[in-house]
Amino acid sequence: MPRNRSGSGVDLHLDLDTSGGRRTGLERALRTAVATGRLAPGAVLPSTRALAAELGFSRGTVSAAYDQLAAEGYLTAVPGSSTRVAEVARPDATPPARGDGRTSAGSATARSASAPPIPHGQAFPGDHGNPAHDLLPGRPDLSAFPSAAWLRSTRRVLTAAPPEVHALGDPRGRPELREALAGYLGRARGVHADPARVVITSGYAQSLGLLAAVLAGAGTTAAAMEEPGHPLHRVTVRRAGPDIVPLPVDDLGARADALGPAGAAVLTPAHQYPCGATLHPDRRRAFTAWARDTGGTVIEDDYDGEFRFDRQPVGALQGTAPDHVVYAGTTSKTLAPALRLAWLVLPERLVEPVVEAKRVTDAHTQSLGQLVLADLIGGHAYDRHVRASRLRYRRRRDLLVEMLHARAPHVRVQGVAAGLHALVLLPDGGPGEDEIMRRAAALDLALMPLRDHWQDPAGRPQGLIIGYSTPQGRAYPAALDALCTVLA
Ligand SMILES: Cc1ncc(COP(=O)(O)O)c(C=O)c1O
Repeated sequence: MPRNRSGSGVDLHLDLDTSGGRRTGLERALRTAVATGRLAPGAVLPSTRALAAELGFSRGTVSAAYDQLAAEGYLTAVPGSSTRVAEVARPDATPPARGDGRTSAGSATARSASAPPIPHGQAFPGDHGNPAHDLLPGRPDLSAFPSAAWLRSTRRVLTAAPPEVHALGDPRGRPELREALAGYLGRARGVHADPARVVITSGYAQSLGLLAAVLAGAGTTAAAMEEPGHPLHRVTVRRAGPDIVPLPVDDLGARADALGPAGAAVLTPAHQYPCGATLHPDRRRAFTAWARDTGGTVIEDDYDGEFRFDRQPVGALQGTAPDHVVYAGTTSKTLAPALRLAWLVLPERLVEPVVEAKRVTDAHTQSLGQLVLADLIGGHAYDRHVRASRLRYRRRRDLLVEMLHARAPHVRVQGVAAGLHALVLLPDGGPGEDEIMRRAAALDLALMPLRDHWQDPAGRPQGLIIGYSTPQGRAYPAALDALCTVLA
């Protein structure tokens, strides 16, 4: 399998504290990541050039840190090849309690961000027909799907796979994908992932449904969910039994002081949906402390965590409390929502009941797609695609901010440090959502109003959730132009 295994295009999340100097901080972060097993033996590290560029360090600093770690036996560096994690003993798959979230200087991501009452961005094609301009949230640029890489991986997988691959298998999912994800999530998102605790699902929507049913079965009668939040996900939880406790959201993310009687909290810590805040370190600490103290469960929906556009560190909350936080990821933003491929990393106590719920729901998620994704991750084509997408969406984000600033300076744009959508808040006294949606319909521009994301929108701020990744290829500038026209 001739595959490019160069480390120049891989993501690496590091909990970085540079208060004692950059090199020292980098060495310590790498040492911890290897020693706790978050970076698996054999994992490829970014090239010194790539890591230096992403951290804003000099290349010499990164080289010196790599050399030091190689000298200590943590890394192996072969001249002309990638630097990898060496085979060192993992003291404990579960990391020592580290006091949850970090101080703001305490970690760094080294990557190294007619009016249709349709709940959130998972609009069905028929809902909007085929609008001339589409800025609904919930989709990557589908024309950028990595078809060639997917095809190569499919060919490779089908050539190598025995016929048994087409038989029913483990409800947790294919071992190849669980292994690949455990390595990837540890390296790129700071997740403490053991393949035995990974369950592959058919989308986050299914992940949440399974979890809600399992938690309800274990006695959870109320689940806290962000307000505003994803309307479909609220329905999913409600249908499984628990009542919804609304968690107000402000500039620091969801408020932990409003948990009330909830036994579970569903959060989007990296990039709150739809407001876009990053959960503040104090709040991160408060949620994990609540889970530890009460036996509650935090469900971390990391739906767009791969897309961070600044250097601000935001690793997975799960990495700080893996026995209390369920990590949930998906390919819906990185590849395509129609793949229906997602994953959970579970605390030990939830593995067996979730696996059983998955088994009785649909036996398991389809195998071929899992094997193809495992191959994409293993060959780093997945990293390359995510990194190329990040660059493209960052440019789109910049253009959105620039154009709104120039042509609709009265609106407030928020949540743009990460993800594939921005929240545009409409000022009081100006045209509200209804009027804007009427204007948009006249231009055949599909937009998502904020109103459906509140349990009760009466008296709430009004706005639009702009999915700037949605327009395909070169369709983006015209969609933006239409947006500016309706907002002007
Ligand atoms: C907040 C949020 N979570 C998760 C998802 C992904 O859901 P799924 O994996 O079911 O497509 C989305 C998709 O748009 C989302 O907006």
